[in-house]
Amino acid sequence: MSASEDLDKRRTAAVARGVSSVITSYVDHAGGGTLTDVDGREWIDFAAGIAVTSVGNSAPRVVEAVRRQAELFTHTCFMVAPYESYVAVCEQLNTLTPGLFDKRSALFNSGAEAVENAVKVARKATGRQAIVVFDHAYHGRTNLTMALTAKNLPYKDGFGPFAGEIYRAPVSYPFYDGRTGPQAAARAIDLIEKQVGGANVAALLVEPIQGEGGFVVPAPGFLAELSEWAHTNGAVFIADEIQTGFCRTGDWFASSYEGIEPDLVTTAKGIAGGLPLSGLTGRAELMDAVHVGGLGGTYGGNPIACAAALAAIETMRELNLAAEALRIGETMKPARRAASALALPTAAICGFGPVKTIPHVALRSASDCTALALVRTSQS
Ligand SMILES: Cc1ncc(COP(=O)(O)O)c(C=O)c1O
Repeated sequence: MSASEDLDKRRTAAVARGVSSVITSYVDHAGGGTLTDVDGREWIDFAAGIAVTSVGNSAPRVVEAVRRQAELFTHTCFMVAPYESYVAVCEQLNTLTPGLFDKRSALFNSGAEAVENAVKVARKATGRQAIVVFDHAYHGRTNLTMALTAKNLPYKDGFGPFAGEIYRAPVSYPFYDGRTGPQAAARAIDLIEKQVGGANVAALLVEPIQGEGGFVVPAPGFLAELSEWAHTNGAVFIADEIQTGFCRTGDWFASSYEGIEPDLVTTAKGIAGGLPLSGLTGRAELMDAVHVGGLGGTYGGNPIACAAALAAIETMRELNLAAEALRIGETMKPARRAASALALPTAAICGFGPVKTIPHVALRSASDCTALALVRTSQS
Protein backbone atom coordinates (compact mmCIF):
# COMPACT_ATOMS: atom_id res chain seq x y z
CA MET A 1 0.00 0.00 0.00
CA SER A 2 1.35 3.45 -0.94
CA ALA A 3 1.75 6.13 1.70
CA SER A 4 -1.14 8.05 0.11
CA GLU A 5 -3.40 4.99 0.16
CA ASP A 6 -2.55 4.48 3.80
CA LEU A 7 -3.40 8.10 4.59
CA ASP A 8 -6.62 7.82 2.62
CA LYS A 9 -7.70 4.92 4.83
CA ARG A 10 -7.04 6.98 7.94
CA ARG A 11 -8.86 9.90 6.36
CA THR A 12 -11.97 7.85 5.63
CA ALA A 13 -12.12 6.83 9.29
CA ALA A 14 -11.42 10.31 10.66
CA VAL A 15 -12.54 13.05 8.27
CA ALA A 16 -16.15 13.94 7.54
CA ARG A 17 -17.33 12.67 4.14
CA GLY A 18 -18.66 16.10 3.16
CA VAL A 19 -15.11 17.44 2.97
CA SER A 20 -13.87 16.13 -0.36
CA SER A 21 -10.56 16.41 -2.23
CA VAL A 22 -9.80 16.51 -5.93
CA ILE A 23 -6.88 14.10 -5.82
CA THR A 24 -6.30 11.11 -3.56
CA SER A 25 -2.58 11.73 -3.20
CA TYR A 26 -1.40 13.46 -0.04
CA VAL A 27 0.96 16.40 -0.23
CA ASP A 28 4.36 16.29 1.36
CA HIS A 29 5.74 19.60 0.11
CA ALA A 30 5.06 22.17 -2.58
CA GLY A 31 6.77 25.01 -4.43
CA GLY A 32 7.90 26.10 -7.87
CA GLY A 33 4.46 25.40 -9.27
CA THR A 34 4.35 21.74 -8.27
CA LEU A 35 3.10 19.59 -5.42
CA THR A 36 5.11 16.55 -4.34
CA ASP A 37 3.11 13.80 -2.72
CA VAL A 38 4.11 11.51 0.13
CA ASP A 39 5.04 8.83 -2.43
CA GLY A 40 7.47 11.19 -4.17
CA ARG A 41 5.30 11.88 -7.22
CA GLU A 42 5.29 15.44 -8.53
CA TRP A 43 2.07 17.12 -9.69
CA ILE A 44 1.80 20.33 -11.70
CA ASP A 45 -0.20 22.60 -9.41
CA PHE A 46 -2.77 24.17 -11.74
CA ALA A 47 -5.17 24.74 -8.83
CA ALA A 48 -2.83 26.84 -6.64
CA GLY A 49 -5.02 26.00 -3.65
CA ILE A 50 -8.05 27.41 -5.54
CA ALA A 51 -6.42 30.61 -6.78
CA VAL A 52 -4.48 31.33 -3.62
CA THR A 53 -0.74 30.79 -3.96
CA SER A 54 -0.14 33.43 -6.63
CA VAL A 55 3.32 34.24 -5.26
CA GLY A 56 4.15 30.53 -5.10
CA ASN A 57 3.80 27.95 -2.37
CA SER A 58 6.07 28.62 0.63
CA ALA A 59 7.36 31.70 -1.20
CA PRO A 60 10.65 32.64 0.51
CA ARG A 61 9.62 36.16 1.52
CA VAL A 62 6.33 34.91 2.95
CA VAL A 63 8.05 32.10 4.86
CA GLU A 64 10.56 34.52 6.37
CA ALA A 65 7.86 37.03 7.36
CA VAL A 66 5.78 34.28 8.97
CA ARG A 67 8.79 32.91 10.86
CA ARG A 68 9.77 36.37 12.14
CA GLN A 69 6.23 37.19 13.25
CA ALA A 70 5.70 33.79 14.89
CA GLU A 71 8.76 34.43 17.02
CA LEU A 72 7.49 37.86 18.09
CA PHE A 73 3.87 36.98 18.90
CA THR A 74 1.29 34.69 17.33
CA HIS A 75 -1.95 36.32 18.48
CA THR A 76 -3.31 39.10 20.63
CA CYS A 77 -6.64 39.74 18.85
CA PHE A 78 -6.61 43.15 17.17
CA MET A 79 -9.83 44.02 19.05
CA VAL A 80 -7.98 43.58 22.35
CA ALA A 81 -4.40 44.65 21.69
CA PRO A 82 -3.66 46.14 18.23
CA TYR A 83 -0.46 45.83 16.18
CA GLU A 84 1.12 47.57 13.21
CA SER A 85 0.83 44.86 10.53
CA TYR A 86 -3.00 44.96 10.63
CA VAL A 87 -2.89 48.70 10.00
CA ALA A 88 -0.29 48.25 7.24
CA VAL A 89 -2.43 45.64 5.40
CA CYS A 90 -5.42 48.01 5.57
CA GLU A 91 -3.25 50.81 4.19
CA GLN A 92 -2.21 48.55 1.31
CA LEU A 93 -5.81 47.58 0.58
CA ASN A 94 -6.91 51.22 0.66
CA THR A 95 -4.17 52.11 -1.82
CA LEU A 96 -4.42 49.14 -4.18
CA THR A 97 -8.20 48.81 -4.62
CA PRO A 98 -9.76 50.94 -7.38
CA GLY A 99 -10.81 54.51 -6.54
CA LEU A 100 -8.88 57.43 -5.11
CA PHE A 101 -11.52 58.35 -2.52
CA ASP A 102 -11.03 58.09 1.24
CA LYS A 103 -11.24 54.43 2.26
CA ARG A 104 -11.23 52.22 5.34
CA SER A 105 -10.63 48.47 5.61
CA ALA A 106 -11.32 45.67 8.06
CA LEU A 107 -9.74 42.21 8.11
CA PHE A 108 -11.28 38.78 8.55
CA ASN A 109 -10.35 35.11 8.10
CA SER A 110 -12.09 33.84 4.98
CA GLY A 111 -13.66 35.12 1.81
CA ALA A 112 -17.14 34.23 3.04
CA GLU A 113 -16.58 36.25 6.18
CA ALA A 114 -15.51 39.29 4.15
CA VAL A 115 -18.68 38.98 2.03
CA GLU A 116 -20.85 38.66 5.16
CA ASN A 117 -19.30 41.83 6.50
CA ALA A 118 -19.82 43.64 3.20
CA VAL A 119 -23.54 42.87 3.55
CA LYS A 120 -23.50 44.08 7.17
CA VAL A 121 -21.84 47.36 6.19
CA ALA A 122 -24.14 47.95 3.22
CA ARG A 123 -27.28 47.33 5.28
CA LYS A 124 -26.12 49.47 8.18
CA ALA A 125 -25.00 52.34 5.94
CA THR A 126 -28.17 52.42 3.82
CA GLY A 127 -30.74 51.39 6.39
CA ARG A 128 -32.08 49.00 3.71
CA GLN A 129 -32.17 45.21 3.59
CA ALA A 130 -32.36 43.83 0.06
CA ILE A 131 -29.17 42.40 -1.41
CA VAL A 132 -29.15 41.66 -5.14
CA VAL A 133 -26.89 38.89 -6.42
CA PHE A 134 -26.60 37.25 -9.81
CA ASP A 135 -27.08 33.94 -11.60
CA HIS A 136 -24.00 31.68 -11.38
CA ALA A 137 -22.64 33.66 -8.41
CA TYR A 138 -20.37 32.10 -5.82
CA HIS A 139 -19.84 33.95 -2.55
CA GLY A 140 -19.15 31.22 0.04
CA ARG A 141 -20.56 28.50 2.24
CA THR A 142 -21.72 30.18 5.46
CA ASN A 143 -25.46 30.54 5.94
CA LEU A 144 -25.68 34.06 4.49
CA THR A 145 -23.20 33.36 1.70
CA MET A 146 -24.99 30.12 0.77
CA ALA A 147 -28.03 32.30 0.19
CA LEU A 148 -25.91 34.58 -1.99
CA THR A 149 -24.39 31.66 -3.92
CA ALA A 150 -26.43 30.43 -6.88
CA LYS A 151 -25.70 26.74 -7.26
CA ASN A 152 -27.55 24.16 -5.17
CA LEU A 153 -25.26 21.10 -5.33
CA PRO A 154 -22.82 20.77 -3.70
CA TYR A 155 -23.08 24.03 -1.78
CA LYS A 156 -26.63 24.35 -0.48
CA ASP A 157 -28.54 21.10 -0.82
CA GLY A 158 -30.37 20.31 2.43
CA PHE A 159 -28.68 23.12 4.36
CA GLY A 160 -31.55 25.61 4.41
CA PRO A 161 -33.39 27.63 5.50
CA PHE A 162 -31.21 30.41 4.14
CA ALA A 163 -30.90 34.07 5.06
CA GLY A 164 -33.67 36.33 3.77
CA GLU A 165 -33.84 39.48 1.67
CA ILE A 166 -31.60 38.06 -1.04
CA TYR A 167 -32.72 38.54 -4.67
CA ARG A 168 -31.17 37.02 -7.77
CA ALA A 169 -30.91 38.81 -11.11
CA PRO A 170 -29.68 37.54 -14.49
CA VAL A 171 -26.00 38.09 -15.13
CA SER A 172 -24.39 39.05 -18.43
CA TYR A 173 -23.31 35.84 -20.15
CA PRO A 174 -22.78 36.99 -23.74
CA PHE A 175 -21.98 33.56 -25.13
CA TYR A 176 -25.46 32.34 -24.14
CA ASP A 177 -27.62 35.45 -24.04
CA GLY A 178 -26.18 37.31 -27.03
CA ARG A 179 -26.77 40.61 -25.23
CA THR A 180 -24.38 43.55 -25.05
CA GLY A 181 -23.35 44.65 -21.57
CA PRO A 182 -25.86 47.54 -21.44
CA GLN A 183 -28.65 45.25 -22.73
CA ALA A 184 -27.88 42.63 -20.09
CA ALA A 185 -27.73 45.33 -17.41
CA ALA A 186 -31.08 46.73 -18.55
CA ARG A 187 -32.63 43.26 -18.21
CA ALA A 188 -31.21 42.87 -14.68
CA ILE A 189 -32.26 46.38 -13.64
CA ASP A 190 -35.77 45.85 -14.97
CA LEU A 191 -36.10 42.74 -12.83
CA ILE A 192 -34.67 44.49 -9.76
CA GLU A 193 -36.99 47.47 -10.11
CA LYS A 194 -40.05 45.28 -10.67
CA GLN A 195 -39.38 42.57 -8.08
CA VAL A 196 -37.43 44.40 -5.37
CA GLY A 197 -37.86 48.14 -5.87
CA GLY A 198 -34.85 50.43 -6.23
CA ALA A 199 -35.51 52.15 -2.90
CA ASN A 200 -35.26 48.83 -1.04
CA VAL A 201 -31.90 47.76 -2.41
CA ALA A 202 -29.04 47.98 0.08
CA ALA A 203 -26.46 46.57 -2.33
CA LEU A 204 -25.69 44.94 -5.64
CA LEU A 205 -23.08 42.26 -5.03
CA VAL A 206 -21.23 40.97 -8.08
CA GLU A 207 -18.02 39.21 -9.08
CA PRO A 208 -16.30 41.16 -11.90
CA ILE A 209 -15.61 37.75 -13.46
CA GLN A 210 -17.53 34.82 -12.03
CA GLY A 211 -15.33 31.87 -11.22
CA GLU A 212 -17.42 28.94 -10.05
CA GLY A 213 -17.40 25.97 -12.41
CA GLY A 214 -15.83 27.96 -15.26
CA PHE A 215 -15.34 31.66 -15.80
CA VAL A 216 -18.24 33.86 -16.79
CA VAL A 217 -16.97 37.14 -18.23
CA PRO A 218 -19.69 39.78 -18.53
CA ALA A 219 -20.01 41.77 -21.75
CA PRO A 220 -18.31 45.19 -21.62
CA GLY A 221 -20.49 47.82 -19.99
CA PHE A 222 -22.53 45.44 -17.82
CA LEU A 223 -20.73 46.22 -14.57
CA ALA A 224 -20.47 49.94 -15.33
CA GLU A 225 -24.24 50.19 -15.93
CA LEU A 226 -25.00 48.32 -12.71
CA SER A 227 -22.61 50.52 -10.77
CA GLU A 228 -24.24 53.63 -12.23
CA TRP A 229 -27.70 52.32 -11.35
CA ALA A 230 -26.60 51.61 -7.79
CA HIS A 231 -25.31 55.14 -7.39
CA THR A 232 -28.41 56.81 -8.73
CA ASN A 233 -30.60 54.62 -6.53
CA GLY A 234 -28.68 55.04 -3.27
CA ALA A 235 -27.50 51.42 -3.24
CA VAL A 236 -24.00 50.18 -2.51
CA PHE A 237 -22.05 48.54 -5.35
CA ILE A 238 -19.98 45.67 -3.94
CA ALA A 239 -17.34 43.94 -6.07
CA ASP A 240 -16.43 40.49 -4.82
CA GLU A 241 -12.78 40.38 -5.94
CA ILE A 242 -11.92 37.41 -3.75
CA GLN A 243 -10.99 35.32 -6.76
CA THR A 244 -10.17 38.03 -9.31
CA GLY A 245 -8.04 40.23 -7.06
CA PHE A 246 -4.32 40.47 -6.51
CA CYS A 247 -2.97 40.34 -10.06
CA ARG A 248 -4.81 37.26 -11.28
CA THR A 249 -6.36 39.04 -14.26
CA GLY A 250 -3.31 41.10 -15.17
CA ASP A 251 -4.24 44.05 -12.97
CA TRP A 252 -4.43 44.34 -9.21
CA PHE A 253 -8.22 44.11 -9.43
CA ALA A 254 -10.52 43.10 -12.29
CA SER A 255 -12.88 46.03 -11.62
CA SER A 256 -10.24 48.22 -13.27
CA TYR A 257 -10.99 46.69 -16.68
CA GLU A 258 -14.45 48.21 -16.60
CA GLY A 259 -13.19 51.46 -15.11
CA ILE A 260 -15.50 50.99 -12.14
CA GLU A 261 -14.73 52.08 -8.60
CA PRO A 262 -16.78 49.80 -6.35
CA ASP A 263 -18.07 51.26 -3.08
CA LEU A 264 -16.95 48.11 -1.28
CA VAL A 265 -14.44 45.46 -2.38
CA THR A 266 -13.99 42.03 -0.79
CA THR A 267 -10.59 40.34 -0.97
CA ALA A 268 -9.09 37.04 0.20
CA LYS A 269 -7.36 34.09 -1.53
CA GLY A 270 -4.17 35.54 -3.11
CA ILE A 271 -3.83 38.27 -0.49
CA ALA A 272 -1.59 36.40 1.93
CA GLY A 273 0.43 33.75 0.09
CA GLY A 274 -1.64 30.88 1.50
CA LEU A 275 -2.39 32.08 5.02
CA PRO A 276 -6.03 32.65 5.95
CA LEU A 277 -6.84 36.33 5.62
CA SER A 278 -9.57 38.37 3.99
CA GLY A 279 -10.40 42.03 3.73
CA LEU A 280 -13.28 44.40 3.24
CA THR A 281 -12.33 47.79 1.83
CA GLY A 282 -14.56 50.66 0.92
CA ARG A 283 -15.65 54.26 1.03
CA ALA A 284 -14.85 55.68 4.46
CA GLU A 285 -18.38 56.99 4.99
CA LEU A 286 -19.87 53.51 4.38
CA MET A 287 -17.31 51.56 6.40
CA ASP A 288 -17.50 54.05 9.26
CA ALA A 289 -21.30 53.96 9.32
CA VAL A 290 -20.90 50.89 11.53
CA HIS A 291 -20.93 51.54 15.27
CA VAL A 292 -17.77 51.01 17.31
CA GLY A 293 -17.36 47.28 17.99
CA GLY A 294 -19.73 46.31 15.17
CA LEU A 295 -17.03 44.60 13.09
CA GLY A 296 -14.34 42.14 14.11
CA GLY A 297 -13.72 38.62 15.37
CA THR A 298 -11.17 36.69 17.40
CA TYR A 299 -8.76 35.85 14.60
CA GLY A 300 -9.55 38.38 11.88
CA GLY A 301 -6.30 40.01 10.77
CA ASN A 302 -4.16 37.58 12.74
CA PRO A 303 -0.58 38.95 12.96
CA ILE A 304 1.00 35.99 11.15
CA ALA A 305 -1.50 36.24 8.31
CA CYS A 306 -0.92 40.02 8.13
CA ALA A 307 2.86 39.54 7.99
CA ALA A 308 2.35 37.02 5.19
CA ALA A 309 0.07 39.44 3.31
CA LEU A 310 2.58 42.26 3.48
CA ALA A 311 5.28 39.92 2.17
CA ALA A 312 3.00 38.59 -0.59
CA ILE A 313 2.00 42.09 -1.71
CA GLU A 314 5.65 43.17 -1.74
CA THR A 315 6.45 40.12 -3.87
CA MET A 316 3.63 40.90 -6.31
CA ARG A 317 4.94 44.45 -6.66
CA GLU A 318 8.59 43.51 -6.98
CA LEU A 319 8.03 40.71 -9.50
CA ASN A 320 5.30 42.71 -11.26
CA LEU A 321 2.97 39.73 -11.16
CA ALA A 322 0.21 41.71 -12.86
CA ALA A 323 2.41 41.96 -15.98
CA GLU A 324 3.33 38.31 -15.59
CA ALA A 325 -0.35 37.36 -15.54
CA LEU A 326 -0.84 39.33 -18.76
CA ARG A 327 2.09 37.49 -20.30
CA ILE A 328 0.55 34.14 -19.39
CA GLY A 329 -2.74 35.35 -20.87
CA GLU A 330 -0.94 36.16 -24.12
CA THR A 331 0.17 32.54 -24.43
CA MET A 332 -3.52 31.64 -24.80
CA LYS A 333 -3.98 33.81 -27.90
CA PRO A 334 -3.40 30.92 -30.31
CA ALA A 335 -6.52 29.29 -28.86
CA ARG A 336 -8.51 32.26 -30.18
CA ARG A 337 -6.95 31.89 -33.62
CA ALA A 338 -7.68 28.18 -33.50
CA ALA A 339 -11.29 28.84 -32.59
CA SER A 340 -11.53 31.18 -35.53
CA ALA A 341 -9.98 28.58 -37.84
CA LEU A 342 -12.56 26.09 -36.61
CA ALA A 343 -15.38 28.56 -37.21
CA LEU A 344 -16.15 28.58 -33.48
CA PRO A 345 -17.40 31.85 -32.04
CA THR A 346 -14.19 33.60 -30.98
CA ALA A 347 -16.24 35.78 -28.63
CA ALA A 348 -16.64 32.59 -26.62
CA ILE A 349 -12.99 32.83 -25.63
CA CYS A 350 -12.73 35.85 -23.41
CA GLY A 351 -11.33 37.08 -20.13
CA PHE A 352 -8.38 39.01 -18.80
CA GLY A 353 -4.85 37.74 -18.40
CA PRO A 354 -4.94 34.01 -17.71
CA VAL A 355 -8.49 34.24 -16.37
CA LYS A 356 -9.96 33.09 -19.66
CA THR A 357 -12.87 30.93 -20.61
CA ILE A 358 -13.32 28.48 -23.48
CA PRO A 359 -16.85 27.09 -23.13
CA HIS A 360 -16.97 23.35 -23.64
CA VAL A 361 -20.03 23.72 -25.80
CA ALA A 362 -17.94 25.78 -28.22
CA LEU A 363 -15.97 22.65 -28.94
CA ARG A 364 -18.43 20.62 -30.92
CA SER A 365 -16.44 17.45 -31.15
CA ALA A 366 -13.36 15.65 -29.99
CA SER A 367 -11.70 16.58 -33.27
CA ASP A 368 -12.28 20.28 -32.49
CA CYS A 369 -10.43 19.77 -29.19
CA THR A 370 -7.61 18.01 -30.95
CA ALA A 371 -7.42 20.76 -33.55
CA LEU A 372 -7.24 23.43 -30.84
CA ALA A 373 -4.49 21.52 -29.10
CA LEU A 374 -2.58 21.08 -32.37
CA VAL A 375 -2.79 24.75 -33.31
CA ARG A 376 -1.72 25.64 -29.78
CA THR A 377 1.29 23.33 -30.01
CA SER A 378 2.36 24.43 -33.46
CA GLN A 379 2.21 28.12 -32.54
CA SER A 380 3.89 27.99 -29.16
C1 LIG B 1 -15.80 35.13 -5.57
C2 LIG B 1 -15.67 34.39 -4.27
N1 LIG B 1 -16.28 34.87 -3.18
C3 LIG B 1 -16.20 34.25 -2.00
C4 LIG B 1 -15.51 33.07 -1.85
C5 LIG B 1 -15.44 32.38 -0.51
O1 LIG B 1 -14.14 32.43 0.00
P1 LIG B 1 -13.72 31.42 1.16
O2 LIG B 1 -13.70 30.05 0.57
O3 LIG B 1 -12.35 31.90 1.58
O4 LIG B 1 -14.73 31.57 2.24
C6 LIG B 1 -14.86 32.52 -2.96
C7 LIG B 1 -14.13 31.24 -2.86
O5 LIG B 1 -13.92 30.52 -3.79
C8 LIG B 1 -14.93 33.19 -4.22
O6 LIG B 1 -14.35 32.71 -5.31
